[in-house]
Amino acid sequence: MIYAPQLPRLGTFEAWRDAARALASNDVPPEDVEWAMEGAEAGLFGGGAALPDAREMSVPRGFVQLAKLVCASRAVGAHDLLYRVLLRCRGNGNLLSNRADPQVQQLEVWAKNIRRDMHKMKAFVRFREVTPQGANRRQFLSWFEPDHRIEELIAPFFTRRFGDMDWVIVTPEVTTRFEGGELSHESITSERLDLSDETEDLWRTYYANIFNPARLKIKAMQSEMPKKYWKNLPEADLIPGLIAQAEARVRQMQKDAPTLPPIRAERILERLPVRAGQDDLHSCARCPLGAQATQAVGGAGPLDAPLMIVGEQPGDHEDLAGKPFVGPAGQLFDEIAAQAGLDRSAAYVTNAVKHFKFTPRGKRRIHQSPNRSEIDACRIWLTREIAQVSPALIVALGATAAQALTGNGAQIMQRRGRVEQGLDGLPVLIALHPSAILRSDQSAQMRAALLADLQLAAQMIEEISAL
Ligand code: URA
Repeated sequence: MIYAPQLPRLGTFEAWRDAARALASNDVPPEDVEWAMEGAEAGLFGGGAALPDAREMSVPRGFVQLAKLVCASRAVGAHDLLYRVLLRCRGNGNLLSNRADPQVQQLEVWAKNIRRDMHKMKAFVRFREVTPQGANRRQFLSWFEPDHRIEELIAPFFTRRFGDMDWVIVTPEVTTRFEGGELSHESITSERLDLSDETEDLWRTYYANIFNPARLKIKAMQSEMPKKYWKNLPEADLIPGLIAQAEARVRQMQKDAPTLPPIRAERILERLPVRAGQDDLHSCARCPLGAQATQAVGGAGPLDAPLMIVGEQPGDHEDLAGKPFVGPAGQLFDEIAAQAGLDRSAAYVTNAVKHFKFTPRGKRRIHQSPNRSEIDACRIWLTREIAQVSPALIVALGATAAQALTGNGAQIMQRRGRVEQGLDGLPVLIALHPSAILRSDQSAQMRAALLADLQLAAQMIEEISAL
């Protein structure tokens, strides 16, 4: 008797698992089973015989993980080989750890291809904002062409990462929706969506900024970002030009090197020369704030962090603890960062101004924002931290940080969520300050905005790690 289980495009793994359990628990040999994807041309045996009832059967844990991945593969014979290995696992619980077994090896290769495909999708999905006026959640749309049937496997990643927005990812065979916190998949055929708007300009600026001609490795770049993905990437048309100019840019960088640090920092240094005894943050008297504060609060975090977070100035708690972002604003920041998928301990966290500025009121010390000359006077310490850490991306939290990092003191609400060119030549992502959320009567919207900004930072950092 021949069985011919039809596997649906959605829920493929679950359908395979149920059929495989029914067949294997009744000792049906693999030669009697013809696996097919639903909608594919009916095989020699059409629908085949009705499946027998499943009986009790146990399966090694690792097999289920492997089967979930391999079921998404488009490789010919993937479902059949999975079934063969499942039958062999019954008599040999350690079969999967035998890396020399050719069937296990083949399944591992297919699983690896699925993981790679998922990694590419995480790195190369680009969302276009399509929020209609008056909507209370931001809405995004994206197009992606995966090699395998990975839409259901990858969806939890995007729901975690972009949980506060509504989004749709369209692939040639499946449309995945996340609306109002509900995830759904639909098996429908779609043509390539042509998405282009200002978000693409943001990616292009960002990519041009992080492209380091001195580290150009064309082969590695092409294997990480194969050409077939280029057509969906807004930054892709920059690549040939950037590669072509790379040599000249490296020569120019070498020539320019002696002119670093940045011109702006030099101007500040001229105005406020570092005198003997003042070349130390903890004895800094470049502005009056140090006289009033308990101590100067420098940055904290790994000195090779790819991400630098810059706040305004230490608050009451930070002034006493000597560490940045440990008070209420810091706790709120940590919470939203974790939700955005950003690990604070992997970032270097600091402030634009290193001393707490306040006015005493009774026993309380009331926060005062630093003024322009205090920000400028303190810039030297931030410049040093940036030079030391050399992050790939800086996030400016609030107006003071944005002013210190970009020289532009314009309103944050219009700039947030965008990458600007910093005075130190590094990309600066402008974001809201967590204290603004604590102070606001529209805290839900402000929180969603900071979450979106930090999600963008997380995505950019992931992108850099993939380069
Ligand atoms: N606010 C900031 O900007 N920085 C801190 O360190 C704490 C609160």
